Amino acid sequence: MPREIITVQAGQCGNSIGSQFWPQLCQEHGISQDGNLEDFATEGGDRKDVFFYQSDDTRYIPRAILIDLEPRVLNGIQTGPYKNIYNPENFFVGKNGVGAANNWGDGYQTGELVHEEVMEMIDREADGSDSLEGFMMLHSIAGGTGSGLGSFLLERLNDRFPKKIIQTYSVFPDTQNDNVVVHPYNSLLSMRRLTQNADSVVVLDNGALSRIAADRLHVQEPSFQQTNQLVSTVMSASTTPLRYPGYMHNDLVSIVASLIPTPRCHFLMTSYTPFTGANVEQAKTVRKTTVLDVMRRLLQPKNRMVSTIPGKKSCYISILNVIQGDVDPTDVHKSLLRIRERKLATFIPWGPASIQVALTKKSPYIPMNHRVSGLMLANHTSIATLFKRIVRHYDTMRKRNAFMEGYKKTAPFADNLNEFDEAKEVVTDLIAEYEAAENADYLNPEGDKAAGEAGDKRVTILKMSNQQQS
Ligand code: GTP
Repeated sequence: MPREIITVQAGQCGNSIGSQFWPQLCQEHGISQDGNLEDFATEGGDRKDVFFYQSDDTRYIPRAILIDLEPRVLNGIQTGPYKNIYNPENFFVGKNGVGAANNWGDGYQTGELVHEEVMEMIDREADGSDSLEGFMMLHSIAGGTGSGLGSFLLERLNDRFPKKIIQTYSVFPDTQNDNVVVHPYNSLLSMRRLTQNADSVVVLDNGALSRIAADRLHVQEPSFQQTNQLVSTVMSASTTPLRYPGYMHNDLVSIVASLIPTPRCHFLMTSYTPFTGANVEQAKTVRKTTVLDVMRRLLQPKNRMVSTIPGKKSCYISILNVIQGDVDPTDVHKSLLRIRERKLATFIPWGPASIQVALTKKSPYIPMNHRVSGLMLANHTSIATLFKRIVRHYDTMRKRNAFMEGYKKTAPFADNLNEFDEAKEVVTDLIAEYEAAENADYLNPEGDKAAGEAGDKRVTILKMSNQQQS
C-alpha cells in the first residue's frame, strides 16, 4: 500500500526548489521529461507512487500543487523542459499577479481569499490517494507568499487533515545579508505556524547554504540555482527511505517519530556528504568515502545547513543517518562504536544516546561518483540559537516600529498588532523548550506541577517513538 505524500510549493523560493526537486526524482526513477517510464527503468524495487500517480495514459505525474501570487517562476516551470510532467490543474497563480510584496500580512490575507480554490486542488489530490500519509510544504519564511500564504495553508491543512503528517522544508533567511529587509517580521510570524501547525520542519538557512557552497564546492556567491541544488539533494536523500523502502524508516511517520520524541521540538537540521553535481565540478575531487568517513563528516558543524552557535550544553536530541551506496552493515556497526568511543556526538541526558541508521539503495539509473554518501537528519538543541537571532532582529525593528505601515494595511493587523506579540510568545516558549531539553529533568521538572503534567505528556510521546523504533 503506497503511503502517498502531496507536495505543496508556495512562493518563488518554494517553486524554484520544486523545479529542481522533481527533475531529480524523475531521473532517479527513470521517468522521462514527458512523464513516461524509460525503457531501461524496469528494475523496479522503487516506490514511485509515493510522489507520483499514473494518469490514464500511464504517464507519471507529481502529486504537487504549485502556488504563487506572481507568475514568473510558475511560467518558467510551464515552459521549461519538465513542463509536461505536471498536472496543469495544479497550478495556482494569483489573479492580479503582483505577489505579496514581501509582506506576511499580505500573503496571509490573500490566503483567506483564495483558500477555497487551493484547498479544492489539495482535496482532489488527497481523494486520488489510496492511503495518504501527509504533506510536504516547500517555501521560504522570509518573503510574503511562502511565509504568509504558506502559514495560512499550514493552519488549513492541519484543520482539514488532523491525522496526516505535515512536514515542511523551510528556507530561513541569511540573517546577515538578506535581500528582504523585513525578513525578521515575516520569519517570526511564520515560525508561530511552523511551531503550532507542522509536525516536522526541516530547516535550511540561506546563510549556511551559501557558506557550504563556498567552502565545500568552491563556488563564491552562489546563485539560487546552485543553493537549490543543495536543497534538492537533501530532499531527495531524505526521501530515499520512502522511495526505496527497507524494513525500517520506510514511511514518514516512522522517520518523524524516531527523530521527534517530544512534539514541540520538531525543527530538524541536515548535513550531507559528499556534495557533487554537474555545476560543481570542483567538488568531484573528493577523497575516499567509507562509512566511518561519511558518518564523521556528517557530524562536523561546518557541514550543517543551518547556522547555529552551539553552547556548552548543546546536544543532540536524536540523529538519523540515511546512508546510501555500497555498504556492509558491519561497517556501520563498527563506525557507530568508533563514534561513541571518540565521543563525537553529545546527546540529551534524558533519552537514548544513539545514532539511528537507515541503509538505503541508490537509484540504479544515476551514475555514482562515490561509493558511499550520507545524509544526517538531526534534532539538535542549538537550533534555538537561530530562533534567538530571529527574535533579536525582530525586537530591534519592532522597537523602532520600522516598516510597520505595510503590515497595518493588511487584515491580520487591521485592528491591532497582537499577531506579532503572540508569535513572539510562541517562539520565546519554543526557545525555552529547547533549552529545557538540555537538562536531565526535562521530562519531569521538579517542583512544577504544570510542568509535571507536560512532562507526563512528553514521556508518552517518547514511548510511542521508542515503540516505533523497536
Ligand atoms: P513574495 O515575493 O512577497 O510574493 O513572496 P515569496 O514567498 O514568493 O518570496 P520569496 O520566496 O522570494 O522569499 C524571499 C526569501 O526567499 C529571501 O530570503 C530570499 O533570499 C529567499 N529565496 C528566494 N528565492 C530563493 C531560491 O530559489 N532559493 C533559496 N535558497 N532562497 C530563495
